[in-house]
Amino acid sequence: MSENSTNKISFSYLKNKFLGNFNNSNNTPLLDAMINYKNNPMTGFHIPGHNRGKGVNRKFLNLVGEDVLNIDTTDEFDNLGTLHPATGAVKEAQELAACAFNAKKTFFVTGGSTVANLALAFSLSAPNDEVLIARNCHRSVLTGLIISGAKVNWVIPKKLNDWAIFGNIDPCDIEEKLKKNRNIKLVWITNPTYEGVVSDIKKIAQICRKYKASLIVDEAHGCLWNFSSKLPNCALQSGADAVVHSLHKTGGAMTQASMLHLSKDSIFDEEKITHALKLLHTTSPSLILLTSLDSARANLESAKGKDMIQNAIDNALYFRQKAKNIENLCVLDDIVDIDVTKIFIKMKGLSGLQLEYILEHNYKIEVESASDEGILLLSNIGGTKDEFDYLLKSLEEISKSKYQMTQNDVKIMPLIDPEIVMNLREAYFAPKECVEKDEAIGRISSEVIALCPPGISILLPGEIIKKEHLPYLFNYETIEVIKE
Ligand SMILES: Cc1ncc(COP(=O)(O)O)c(C=O)c1O
Repeated sequence: MSENSTNKISFSYLKNKFLGNFNNSNNTPLLDAMINYKNNPMTGFHIPGHNRGKGVNRKFLNLVGEDVLNIDTTDEFDNLGTLHPATGAVKEAQELAACAFNAKKTFFVTGGSTVANLALAFSLSAPNDEVLIARNCHRSVLTGLIISGAKVNWVIPKKLNDWAIFGNIDPCDIEEKLKKNRNIKLVWITNPTYEGVVSDIKKIAQICRKYKASLIVDEAHGCLWNFSSKLPNCALQSGADAVVHSLHKTGGAMTQASMLHLSKDSIFDEEKITHALKLLHTTSPSLILLTSLDSARANLESAKGKDMIQNAIDNALYFRQKAKNIENLCVLDDIVDIDVTKIFIKMKGLSGLQLEYILEHNYKIEVESASDEGILLLSNIGGTKDEFDYLLKSLEEISKSKYQMTQNDVKIMPLIDPEIVMNLREAYFAPKECVEKDEAIGRISSEVIALCPPGISILLPGEIIKKEHLPYLFNYETIEVIKE
């Protein structure tokens, strides 16, 4: 691939720059290049060695189908382009995504938002830089900061104790932290929370600007927001400098396909982020995943895609309305600002894990996740009203049944205020030892422990282990702690 093709300015780039947000729902350069690749096979002497499916286990081929293997390729061919550096159809597809999200720059990421977060931490913070992080951040943010060695300050989101989940972040808490520590130059928050609770990003961004701090918003669960006025505001339009979207979570892309965007006014150095992504990314990105990003973007900005999003919202509102009539069922609603498509419910007399079990085994319904308190349901762009009717009917039956509430020791996410006594990186790399769980009380953790989902840490390196942590560590017999 010549350097020229890397630097060539494409039509979509110019349109984005000079004409602003444009609808390019019919323009799918990477999808088209892949169709061309599939339809014009060549004799191959290259990776992947299964040679368009001819070298795979037959059972696997029958499972996934010939077409999938036929297009399972990596970025080696000129007509498809490369990801690092971005060239050809891949580059065009990224530029169209930037147009669609009204971003200055969009990067495609095939390692999920995990790699996007790692790259942001790695490129935007250095050892001992002071950063402000929300305590409910995904563990990938922590991993990134272990790599960078930044000094972490914590902001604790509000707690919705009745639901045993984190709520929104109070902008005043951010202001207080920034006022107290003028060395903090980077703020990083998760919005929405896994359960859909929304913070006021506009206000938080204004505060960050006032204190000359930049803002990253991990909007992994909010990639639809940009495409509907009925959903919360996308952080790219609310003052964030960088935003991460897991298009594979709710946007219709394939698993692991994410985007990292820089906003139009972002102060971040594009080259630094490009470089970090190159270092952290696989050198063999799947063209199927990249193509799924191109097609998901085109779908979301098309009239059909917008109808799908509206449908997901309508189904969620329908469920929320009908659920009010089901005895013993509570829906996380009005008390917080929420993305309506994420529906967190609980049923009196049952833990979330029990409710999940009953739905799965008695009704063949799979939910997004379950906690000690409730379950999370997603109203997705591919969902139907009939499915929600079936869910409502099932919940109604369960609410009337005499299920026995059994003792539930399994706990998912603690809302304990962390006592952090060491820098993340120092704690992670300090000499360590394994001790029995009960003996770990009072010691300093040296590992990140987080259950996925939601990937929020139960313990961080540098955090004092307390008795209250133990019920959440049910999977662990021993804990890694700092050697005394
Ligand atoms: C808030 C948040 N950020 C980042 C991630 C990581 O995303 P991915 O699974 O795309 O790597 C998750 C995953 O659940 C998440 O919840």
